[in-house]
Amino acid sequence: MGPRNCIGMRFALQAIKLVIVEILQSFSFVTCKETEVPLELLDKVAIAPKKPNKLKLVPRSEAPSQD
Ligand code: HEM
Repeated sequence: MGPRNCIGMRFALQAIKLVIVEILQSFSFVTCKETEVPLELLDKVAIAPKKPNKLKLVPRSEAPSQD
């Protein structure tokens, strides 16, 4: 905010989005042995897992097929 805010903000946000796209195109999120299945949620207003929901990223070529 204001007249002296970051001049590179839009560029930086664009670059961050491209990094996220690159990660999502290259890796799949899969369950691992620490992943709680079924997931238990907090009994509160916010939807959040009781314990951290652990997933791992595997290269798409090695990921189990989704079909
Ligand atoms: C994730 C990346 C970046 C973060 C988190 C960031 C953060 C910030 C912050 C917190 C400020 C101070 C703003 C204020 O005083 O209100 C700032 C200023 C500035 N940033 Fe960034 N910045 C990023 C990327 C960039 C990039 C890529 C460029 C240039 C291409 C850049 C150029 C500048 C300049 C020149 C200022 C000084 C603006 C002024 O004082 O008039 N920043 N940045």
